[in-house]
Amino acid sequence: MADTVLEVRDLSLEYRSRRGPVKALRNVSFDLYKGETLALIGESGCGKSTMGFALIRLTPGTAKITNGNVTFVDGPNRINLMEMSENEIRRFRWTDMAMMLQAALNAYNPLIRIQDHFIDTAKAHGLNNKSEIIARARRLLTGVQLDADRVLPAYPHELSGGMRQRVLLALGLLMQPKIIILDEPTTALDILTQRSIIELLRKLKDEFNFTMIFISHDLSLAAELADRVATMYAGQIVELTDVFSAFEKPRHPYTFGLTRAVPTLHGAVEKLESIPGSPPDLVFMPSGCKFHPRCPFATDKCKEVEPKLTAYGGHQVACHNWQQVLEESQKAR
Ligand SMILES: Nc1ncnc2c1ncn2[C@@H]1O[C@H](COP(=O)(O)OP(=O)(O)O)[C@@H](O)[C@H]1O
Ligand code: SF4
Ligand SMILES: [Mg+2]
Repeated sequence: MADTVLEVRDLSLEYRSRRGPVKALRNVSFDLYKGETLALIGESGCGKSTMGFALIRLTPGTAKITNGNVTFVDGPNRINLMEMSENEIRRFRWTDMAMMLQAALNAYNPLIRIQDHFIDTAKAHGLNNKSEIIARARRLLTGVQLDADRVLPAYPHELSGGMRQRVLLALGLLMQPKIIILDEPTTALDILTQRSIIELLRKLKDEFNFTMIFISHDLSLAAELADRVATMYAGQIVELTDVFSAFEKPRHPYTFGLTRAVPTLHGAVEKLESIPGSPPDLVFMPSGCKFHPRCPFATDKCKEVEPKLTAYGGHQVACHNWQQVLEESQKAR
């Protein structure tokens, strides 16, 4: 049994909105294992970014964590993030758990040279020795295959998108966090650059031994990087399993649909289907299983009773009819 680094229990979050509370996370529970890459997949709006933010309590003012706990496990120590003070959590965010944001490519301060981004970040987290910071930055920049001499004195706009993404990875690793959350790290990049970032992540992970949550709506990237895959729908995890089972033996109709909608693992581009219907409104959600209006396997029970995420061996799924789904998914392969 793998060691757990993060225990998430019943995590729920709502955004305030004029239409009513947006239930972006609903009783999410899972364990993150030490050293693994967990991919979080699902259509836009299902709550992936919200999950990332909530795990490190970096939520906007309109959001409220209404329930649940996130526990960081470090050897014999168990730290409840929900009980940390603002100061404690701020420090924790870089030193133990770093999140690289979807929008962060634009988040560089344009007036500040790259080297000062490193210095400021390190100082904010208690590392004050400038030459040590620069030495670390150099090592990391080399690690992300950049020319440190060129990049350190540069301003953000002097770098390409791919280079900025690499710098961001190096920055994220500066305080040697144990857990890294990457939110759509390659979305803004062209295919070739995406490839090289993925390769790089693999290499960095080998070298620095961190645990990674990889948020993506791109399943082929998730398939390449992940050890396990969590499928999100309507603010919940509806399936959680190893990467092979997620793609080859899905038990949730939504995962099944998603994996049919991308080229297969073997590279064949036979079936490019998308899932009919649109994601649910998170203010006024359907009754029962939130996927039922779009689900080809739905029965009357599905309209009334919301299925709970349940473990069958190492495979967790929230579906009343998973056996049938599994059978169908096997026929379709
Ligand atoms: N600041 C916010 N205020 C209100 N609703 C929000 C806010 N941020 C996200 N949401 C809503 O929460 C849901 C989940 O969003 P998000 O976590 O960004 O999804 P994803 O990353 O999977 O695309 C969506 O319905 C989105 O509209
Ligand atoms: S519980 Fe029913 S509606 Fe929901 S995914 Fe399973 S079969 Fe479909
Ligand atoms: Mg997002």
